[in-house]
Amino acid sequence: SKITLTVIKADVGGSVGHTDVHPELLEIAKEHLKEKGKMLIDFCVTHVGDDLELIMTHKGGVDNKEVHKLAWDALWACAQRAKELKLYGAGQDLLKDSFSGNVKGLGPGVAEMEFEERKSEPVIIFMADKTEPGAWNLPLYKMFADPFNTIGLVIDPSMHQGFKFEVYDMIGHKKIIFETPQEIYDMLVFIGATGRYCVRKVYTKNNEIAAVSSTQRMNFMAGKYIGKDDPVLIVRCQNGLPAVGEALEPFANPHLVAGWMRGSHNGPMIPVSIEDAVPTRFDGPPRVCALGFQLAEGKLIGPQDFFKDVAFNNARKKALEIADYIRSMGPFEPHRLHLEELEYTTFPQVAEKLQGRWEEE
Ligand code: 13P
Ligand code: 13P
Ligand code: MG
Ligand code: MG
Ligand code: MG
Ligand code: MG
Repeated sequence: SKITLTVIKADVGGSVGHTDVHPELLEIAKEHLKEKGKMLIDFCVTHVGDDLELIMTHKGGVDNKEVHKLAWDALWACAQRAKELKLYGAGQDLLKDSFSGNVKGLGPGVAEMEFEERKSEPVIIFMADKTEPGAWNLPLYKMFADPFNTIGLVIDPSMHQGFKFEVYDMIGHKKIIFETPQEIYDMLVFIGATGRYCVRKVYTKNNEIAAVSSTQRMNFMAGKYIGKDDPVLIVRCQNGLPAVGEALEPFANPHLVAGWMRGSHNGPMIPVSIEDAVPTRFDGPPRVCALGFQLAEGKLIGPQDFFKDVAFNNARKKALEIADYIRSMGPFEPHRLHLEELEYTTFPQVAEKLQGRWEEE
């Protein structure tokens, strides 16, 4: 029977500022899942920066009400303690007071997939802080469509036919499926625009699920700009799918993503271990962590903290150099995001104040 892998995450309060999750909250979440999570096969609680991450396996399928309620209640319990500790932005991502069957639209980010567990089932959970769902577009393209990243597309008979990408329009609320490699030029028109179009799922040509990302965009969910949703991504590996090292390889070159300070800046995504996922410099730069698990009848065997590897040291060094460089631009674009993408803005007020002083030309 099929296994469901569900990752639900939220920022329920930062310590200190937006840098980290208080260890007490991690304990509360673990206890909650242990005591109330009878429907789970296994779980792992972790964090990347100020985002609390619940990784869960079960047999309930995607959008499972019981599992979503369990996660919601765990996050809610953490938010209550965060309020007592007066942590920063306590309850920030829990936008509604009550649960209504599914955490989607309530604030937390969700990525989940249901599949028949293979003879060996290596999976990677990518988790990022100080960025947005579009941050996965470039790495997903490289993993599943770029032969310079993934040699399996060239030399593995089980991958040679390519993949299908489901792209979601976060503003128009529409989706489309692109076939790769046939349609990569068309697809890149959209997925290169990371603030609007997200790669939400990748399938094999036989419709086997290969990757799923969280594509909530909180600023539009609540009708006003609440914040960029620090995203998660699940990737299955090996045996007709990218090798583990092919899935990790895109992060060896730190690409620029939107987020960072006040959710209003472009900056390099730096791959780090969970221990180093405490974004501090200018509240960043944006972090990405990758935890690997082997599934065994739904049990999470692991985790392996992939970006601990010294082989990512040069990526880190490069990211820090890019950070120094782009920081020197201060409040100028393209370090600062363009007006429509700013998480904080004084634009309407300042424009209003100066209205009478602009002269027609
Ligand atoms: P092994 O020879 O270690 O199994 O590795 C095979 C492989 O696919 C590496 O990407
Ligand atoms: P988070 O989205 O991680 O809470 O960060 C927000 C922010 O304003 C950082 O400067
Ligand atoms: Mg925060
Ligand atoms: Mg910590
Ligand atoms: Mg965050
Ligand atoms: Mg954010």
